[in-house]
Amino acid sequence: MPTPVILDCDPGTDDALALFLALASPELDVRAITVAGGNTGLEHTLSNALALTALTRRPIQVHPGADRPLLGSFTSEPHIHGSDGLGGVVLPQGRPPAAEIAADAIRRILRTAPAPVTLVGIGPATNLALALMTEPALLPKIAQIVLMTGAWAEGNVTPAAEFNAWSDPEALAVLLTSGRPLVLATLELTAQALVTPARIAAWRALGSGRCLQAACDIQATVPHSIRLGGSGAPLHDPCPIAWLIRPALFTARPCAVTVDLGPGPSRGRTVIDRWNRTGAPPNAKVLETLDTDAFFNLLGERFARLP
Ligand code: RIB
Ligand code: CA
Repeated sequence: MPTPVILDCDPGTDDALALFLALASPELDVRAITVAGGNTGLEHTLSNALALTALTRRPIQVHPGADRPLLGSFTSEPHIHGSDGLGGVVLPQGRPPAAEIAADAIRRILRTAPAPVTLVGIGPATNLALALMTEPALLPKIAQIVLMTGAWAEGNVTPAAEFNAWSDPEALAVLLTSGRPLVLATLELTAQALVTPARIAAWRALGSGRCLQAACDIQATVPHSIRLGGSGAPLHDPCPIAWLIRPALFTARPCAVTVDLGPGPSRGRTVIDRWNRTGAPPNAKVLETLDTDAFFNLLGERFARLP
């Protein structure tokens, strides 16, 4: 049976490829896509999610959500994703968004689902946190929460913090303390998914579908990561989706994970207790290794299935 999921995102170049992967994979039953501001403002992340979904021809509802974090002000990431969020790649306009907002849609789906639903978060966790905070009785209807967030060590938006965690650390804390099973794909995991021009060229050769070409065009706009040696860009957001589809490509370690909510330079840092120094019980499985070649082959095979 396909795994029922709700995908919360902030497209975003890597979100775009994650959305294609999720909608191309029969292992997943995507019940809804919910959108927050993050890589760029909500006006762009929402229109991007609508356009990307329409390109796949999958009849999935896209719900607008939070345009800012629970606390503080909104900050975007234009130097990676461009001001429009897709590196300047223009897609045909999608259908109008659902009238129901993200947190309401998440709660409705959880409330009415015959079986628990997996929440997948690949942007700031604001929408997911709002849903959990405003109807905690639904917690047992959450099968697991699978996130791209955090880092064992250095961040990518500050020296201490990864962008999604840093964008709304209070929202991440709501999820980390929810008591529901968590799976985290951190920056150290996504660094193993380094997209090079050769990987993009190998994808392009797999077909001529609009989604495959759009995935390649979008990914080709992403600057190579100096942090990772300058030969490619880490493909963050498809990692948690790939774990749901083919967990055998990964190894994971149960750890106690917290997030720094202070006002200082470490705000948004995920503190991952690898050696159980705190004695706190593990609240998350943190993904550690990835079979990189199999990962990229999976993505190419799935992108090629799309229209
Ligand atoms: O730090 C990487 C994460 O932040 C990814 O989800 C990317 O899309 C941005 O949202
Ligand atoms: Ca994202």
